[in-house]
Amino acid sequence: MREIVTNSPDETEAEGEELGRRLRAGDLILLTGPLGAGKTTFVRGLARGAGSEAQVASPTFQLVRIYPGRVQLAHVDLYRVKAAGELADLGLDELIDEGAVVVEWGDRIEAKTGRQITFETLGGDRRRIRM
Ligand SMILES: Nc1ncnc2c1ncn2[C@@H]1O[C@H](COP(=O)(O)OP(=O)(O)OP(=O)(O)O)[C@@H](O)[C@H]1O
Ligand SMILES: [Mg+2]
Repeated sequence: MREIVTNSPDETEAEGEELGRRLRAGDLILLTGPLGAGKTTFVRGLARGAGSEAQVASPTFQLVRIYPGRVQLAHVDLYRVKAAGELADLGLDELIDEGAVVVEWGDRIEAKTGRQITFETLGGDRRRIRM
């Protein structure tokens, strides 16, 4: 496990970008942490690292947004989904075949696989990220 503290949105994005460069089809990343902790900011870097030039925004009213790139990244936000059930119930198994999948509020999913990343708000602009 790795634990870091970032001091700005840019630093959090850079962490995401580093992981994004290593993304491959079939990867599942589950992001957990409270409102405003930096999950979407991290995904912005993730998408850039995956070779996408898409605008990353929280898919609040759509369950999933797709960012094409070197590897396709599907961005899922379960904030409005209280109990998501399993991956297949959301159709995510197909997205995992097509590319990588990152899920905000990933603890709402019953996933037996996937890489967990947790975000914690410290004082001011500091965020702790555990991966
Ligand atoms: N170190 C930091 N890392 C990430 N974001 C930071 C940091 N410091 C301040 N911020 C600010 O915190 C906010 C994080 O918002 P973001 O949308 O990424 O959070 P989120 O975890 O996706 O929230 P939500 O649960 O509402 O989707 C942004 O306004 C960002 O500018
Ligand atoms: Mg978000």
